[in-house]
Amino acid sequence: MKYNQIGNSDLKVSEITFGAWAAGGWMWGGNESKDAIEGIRAGYDLGVTSIDTAPIYGMGVSEEIVGEAIKDIPRDKVQILTKFGMRWDAKLDTPGFRSKDNDGNDVEIHRYAGKESIIKECEDSLRRLKTDYIDLYQIHWPDKTTPVNESMEAVAKLIEQGKVRYAGVCNYSAELMKEAEQTLGIVSNQVPYSMVKRGIEEDVVPYCIENNKSILAYSPLERGLLTGKMKPGHRFSAGDHRKSIYFYNDENLKRTGAFLDKLRPMAKEKRATLAQLVLRWTLEQPGITIALVGARNAAQATQNAKTGDISLITDEVAFITQELDKLKLVKE
Ligand SMILES: NC(=O)c1ccc[n+]([C@@H]2O[C@H](COP(=O)([O-])OP(=O)(O)OC[C@H]3O[C@@H](n4cnc5c(N)ncnc54)[C@H](OP(=O)(O)O)[C@@H]3O)[C@@H](O)[C@H]2O)c1
Repeated sequence: MKYNQIGNSDLKVSEITFGAWAAGGWMWGGNESKDAIEGIRAGYDLGVTSIDTAPIYGMGVSEEIVGEAIKDIPRDKVQILTKFGMRWDAKLDTPGFRSKDNDGNDVEIHRYAGKESIIKECEDSLRRLKTDYIDLYQIHWPDKTTPVNESMEAVAKLIEQGKVRYAGVCNYSAELMKEAEQTLGIVSNQVPYSMVKRGIEEDVVPYCIENNKSILAYSPLERGLLTGKMKPGHRFSAGDHRKSIYFYNDENLKRTGAFLDKLRPMAKEKRATLAQLVLRWTLEQPGITIALVGARNAAQATQNAKTGDISLITDEVAFITQELDKLKLVKE
């Protein structure tokens, strides 16, 4: 496993970082906590020392699972990445959207990152994670109702207090990153990036390369699509958000499947799975610092962690990109 430096900080994280969204169950049709804990531990045993979570993932459940999974590991051997700014547990006047918690209850979620709210969220996260500091604390989504400098001042205060080591952002444009930097040095941006979602190549990637910011690529397997396991007719369980997204309609599953078939000989030759090849390709792209990969259990986490054993030479990356350029998905 390779460990990559985050921005200009002295924080190093594993190039495969465990993403604990599905572990929390919310929007993924529920979770099996025991499986998720085993997944985090299996990854750790293979060098996946970094874990990304958030309070909203299962409304606290994911952070609790992470806390439980790492409780016997010396704190300085793991890196905890969590977030703030998605409140389901407060009555707020700001615009929200409706969702359901893991028990099927209605909840209203607000993208809110006011100063006092962040300070409270941090305390709650530390308690659930059973730790006294967070390695990387990231705003989860831009909050249109709070000035960026107010949110960043709150994180600066938490850094001063030693509760947070470094500040990061998620889902920020290059413009917003610049604005945040007027208040506080941020080290990373966590953004969606996969073979079939490459929008950040236009502005976030050039900005991050030029300014030495790390990119934490999320959903690099496009939530399972790029593992090759989904065939036309694939059925998701109730409450799984993927069932209404265009990536998983039959036509796109067919087209993606045909593209992945072209990679099978290379995967076979390297004794790699398609998922490992996809993850390695992702990590080879300019500006990408780490791949944040979700896993529901030890088998998936083990497979993903072993991406560390796979390498691709320049011509192989180019071949994959060339085939990928021919893949066109229908967006409806
Ligand atoms: N900041 C943000 O706004 C944001 C947004 C999204 C994600 N993230 C972060 O990024 C992480 C990763 O993204 P993601 O979970 O959305 O997508 P992902 O990593 O592309 O896909 C994860 C899902 O794919 C399936 N999978 C994973 N490994 C597999 C394997 N080896 N074989 C077969 N299936 C496998 C599992 O789902 P099934 O078994 O159910 O198919 C798993 O839950 C999240 O956990 C979260 O930490 C952040």
